[in-house]
Amino acid sequence: MILITGGAGYIGSHTVLNFLKDNYDVLVFDNLETGHIETIEELKKAGNVTFEKGDLRNIEDIDRVFEKYHIETVIHFAAFALVGESVVEPAKYYRNNTVGTLNLLDTMVKHNVKSIIFSSTCATYGEPQYTPIDEKHPQNPINPYGASKLMVERIMSDYDAAYGLKSVKLRYFNVAGCDTQGRVGEWHEPETHLIPNILKSVFGEGKTFKIFGDDYQTPDGTCIRDYVNVEDLAQAHKLAYLWLKKENRSEVFNLGTENGNSVKEVFDACEKVLNQKINVEVAPRRPGDPATLYANANKAKSELHWNPERTLEHSIDTAYKFEQKLQKLK
Ligand SMILES: NC(=O)c1ccc[n+]([C@@H]2O[C@H](COP(=O)([O-])OP(=O)(O)OC[C@H]3O[C@@H](n4cnc5c(N)ncnc54)[C@H](O)[C@@H]3O)[C@@H](O)[C@H]2O)c1
Repeated sequence: MILITGGAGYIGSHTVLNFLKDNYDVLVFDNLETGHIETIEELKKAGNVTFEKGDLRNIEDIDRVFEKYHIETVIHFAAFALVGESVVEPAKYYRNNTVGTLNLLDTMVKHNVKSIIFSSTCATYGEPQYTPIDEKHPQNPINPYGASKLMVERIMSDYDAAYGLKSVKLRYFNVAGCDTQGRVGEWHEPETHLIPNILKSVFGEGKTFKIFGDDYQTPDGTCIRDYVNVEDLAQAHKLAYLWLKKENRSEVFNLGTENGNSVKEVFDACEKVLNQKINVEVAPRRPGDPATLYANANKAKSELHWNPERTLEHSIDTAYKFEQKLQKLK
């Protein structure tokens, strides 16, 4: 059985669907703090999913699950992921993302489960010294969220040396889009990501969409990011799982499309996909936003044979359909 922590959340739920498609038995462990029971209900319709509610900060909750089920591998998404909040409430991030993961790793060692795929982030790199960013780029996170994830990466390397626990750390860039069939999607409250926020403004939430800064050193003056589709990302987890089974060694991979898109380009693409004008205004820059961030993902392409193929337009289209579904729940 494959244990997926955070499987009731955005990226976790898409990865559950990807594994179910190939008839794996999946166990989801989630405290539903930012995830949703409705997502679990959708997953259950798609295949053999067991759900256990529990909290990583409670080691007894994890131990209970490892006692009860035969777990082969862990895919670990559960974490808090709001950069701004992490600056205001650092303890919340270190306790959940770092200590919570430490609890998980200790329980794995105790139960002799020796492989894990981990959701890391490009936020571990901090201010880019060069782009595209490869895995060798120095890691100097500029916020507690990135630091809480970098600590986990280091703990995982130490747990490999000490206990032979093998890990694949996947450093995602900006994740976008939703399940093509509309079963699950991006459902964050509050939402801080660009595409769902542009789309929410269409439904009158916030009414006018704000671009933070149009005076960056980029061709159109707005920030450039790398938007990787969530279903492509889910597929990378499957490939990483198969790779780890075969190679049995720890590694790190960037996951991005290697294409930068500016905020303005994403906004224009939203107007095109929706075929309507969206109100927009330019606001001052936000502190800590680098001008350009995009991945060199050659390593994932050559080692994992990962081939991200879905377009930005596809991500926007699926995100819009899921947003329509969310609006009906209100
Ligand atoms: N969304 C992105 O663009 C992005 C980019 C880089 C990295 N990541 C990482 O990917 C992972 C998933 O992100 P997401 O956007 O799907 O977030 P999400 O909030 O949608 O999902 C996280 C899930 O983990 C659960 N969870 C959190 N703390 C828990 C705990 N202590 N015990 C049990 N369950 C807990 C939540 O209830 C939720 O279902 C995170 O680790 C995040 O740091 C996300």
